[in-house]
Amino acid sequence: MAYADLYARWKADPEAFWMNESRAIDWVRAPSRALFADRAPIYEWFADGLVNTCWNAVDRHVAAGRGSQIAIIHDSPVTGTVHKITYAELQDRVARLAGALAAKGIAKGDRVIIYMPMIPEALEAMLACARIGAIHSVVFGGFAAAELATRIDDAKPKAILAASCGIEPGRIVHYKPLLDGAIDLAAHKPDFCVIFQREQEVAQLVEGRDYAWHAFQYGVEPADCVPVEGNHPAYILYTSGTTGQPKGVVRHTGGHLVALNWSMRNIYGVDPGEVFWAASDVGWVVGHSYICYAPLIHGNTTIVFEGKPVGTPDAGTFWRVIQDHRVASFFTAPTAFRAIKRDDPEGRLVGGYDLSSLRTLYLAGERADPDTITWAQDKLGVPVIDHWWQTETGWAIAANPVGVELLPVKLGSPSVPMPGYDVQVLDEGGHPVPPGTLGAIAVKLPLPPGTLPTLWNAEERFLKSYLDHFPGYYETGDAGYIDDDGYLYIMARTDDVINVAGHRLSTGAMEEVLASHPDVAECAVVGVADALKGQVPLGFLCLNKGCDRPHADIVAECVKLVRERIGPVADFKKAVVVDRLPKTRSGKILRATMVKIADGETFKVPATIDDPAILDEIRAALAGLGLPAR
Ligand code: COA
Ligand code: AMP
Repeated sequence: MAYADLYARWKADPEAFWMNESRAIDWVRAPSRALFADRAPIYEWFADGLVNTCWNAVDRHVAAGRGSQIAIIHDSPVTGTVHKITYAELQDRVARLAGALAAKGIAKGDRVIIYMPMIPEALEAMLACARIGAIHSVVFGGFAAAELATRIDDAKPKAILAASCGIEPGRIVHYKPLLDGAIDLAAHKPDFCVIFQREQEVAQLVEGRDYAWHAFQYGVEPADCVPVEGNHPAYILYTSGTTGQPKGVVRHTGGHLVALNWSMRNIYGVDPGEVFWAASDVGWVVGHSYICYAPLIHGNTTIVFEGKPVGTPDAGTFWRVIQDHRVASFFTAPTAFRAIKRDDPEGRLVGGYDLSSLRTLYLAGERADPDTITWAQDKLGVPVIDHWWQTETGWAIAANPVGVELLPVKLGSPSVPMPGYDVQVLDEGGHPVPPGTLGAIAVKLPLPPGTLPTLWNAEERFLKSYLDHFPGYYETGDAGYIDDDGYLYIMARTDDVINVAGHRLSTGAMEEVLASHPDVAECAVVGVADALKGQVPLGFLCLNKGCDRPHADIVAECVKLVRERIGPVADFKKAVVVDRLPKTRSGKILRATMVKIADGETFKVPATIDDPAILDEIRAALAGLGLPAR
């Protein structure tokens, strides 16, 4: 068995395994060893190597004579355009942007925030930062000004690169006013901003602070690649945690290059030159790893898709893109397939396209329900591979390693651990449990190359969030079990993170916003089941004594407040007013019980509940919202 041999080979000598894989990367100075454990449990990979990510993702392919290969295809049904960029053109565009940034004082280690829609310039901005050793932090366009401000204050960028607007079906997303608002809100101010003006909306520039994308680059000296240490941060990507303060996941340069390059052949089964498509957004980790870096590092063609699975113009868009660009390997979130299935249940549109180039479909970002997988398999006639990972890991913890060996697919399981990950299911005391037993999923330290070494400026929080609970392990925050064949099953989060349409969101962050409403005394947000999006947030509001305003008004204001503070992506549209929240005698809100009631699941009334009668009040309030739905 090729997979079993590979995994055993890694386990027998992780150092040799990763040193060997590191040879696929061009180093300015090769690392002397793979793992640096002197500060354990903080581990680093390839720390003393010297390398440049942009060189490996762009220049080396041009140097190898592949400059005329298409690097990026921008396929944008929302603007009705398709635009292709070769590796040689990409090199030129990135070197000029990097040169302009360097000319304005951006140097190795400086932070640059990128707030852009799905356009090639977003990838060029990321690569330009990598070229000069600047550390980028991409912020998803569906976040509101206040969320952007939080990230500005944490990352303290010298520059912000943005576009004038994004395009959502039926509306323009006004990026520039959002950016201006965020800079006003933030205590830290960037030295300058560079704005890519789109014809759908031309933004007003602030004199002396903002530069237009092209004028900014006029007449500058293109920048060469600056070698950085293997443990130099390539980027910071903020992700949701338990509180409103997002966690700044740090990615080191060397391990990132090695792991992503390894994954393209071994997990995604593609060869250099083939077309790889991840339909996600550059604002998420999937976009970082599999729209931008991995396909380019590996010499593939990547697709920047600016559209939705349905409605742009119809549920056949994905098939059109696969046909037009001869996509070999396709990656998206299960929600996208649920949306397509809802619009085209028989999969009639599939038949209208030539999908002969497609070999495999990959799903991640949320639990892939068996119905969706079966539907996709039936309609597309290719293996559908669920794989499990997180912003923190940057690449798959568990997958079906198609490029090594296609293992039998088990519905509901993202298959088996990848080399580098010693995955264990633990009980509360930190002891491994037998197969089939539910527990907290943890990974034995060290984590492999490409995963987070720490949180930005928050090492204590890193230790507390991930390493303290189970000493010697990384706590994933997911619960599940391993079956007798070693297949993993991911069942739920163990924290207050919910997953809405493949987007990771913090209920704690939403609660902080709701609590700021003047009429709200106490609140709770939980994630309830949703047929399309997997989960959606639902708010419970307890009002201040004496508040006699109409509940519908307060709910509407709360919905608006979350949209304004966190952004449309939070998808917070439902809330109910209740007299009290169910709590334990020690005052802990019984969120899991509220979820069970909303989802119509049977449950045992917790023995620690303060007053069981409250559960009937919750039931009645939810019935008013039509919950449970089934
Ligand atoms: N910029 C601004 N707003 C955005 C945005 C962006 N980049 N992305 C989403 N939004 C907005 C949407 O317009 C929507 O706003 P609305 O409340 O005014 O309708 C809101 O955020 C919620 O978006 P979403 O959850 O995506 O719902 P949707 O109804 O627009 O689309 C799907 C539903 C299933 C089509 C869509 O969620 C989808 O394509 N999901 C795939 C998931 C995915 O790619 N996940 C990435 C991780 S792998
Ligand atoms: P993110 O950091 O946004 O990628 O979200 C990571 C979380 O999404 C994980 O911790 C899981 O809870 C969930 N997730 C991602 N992929 C899967 C999957 N294949 N199956 C089940 N849950 C998943």
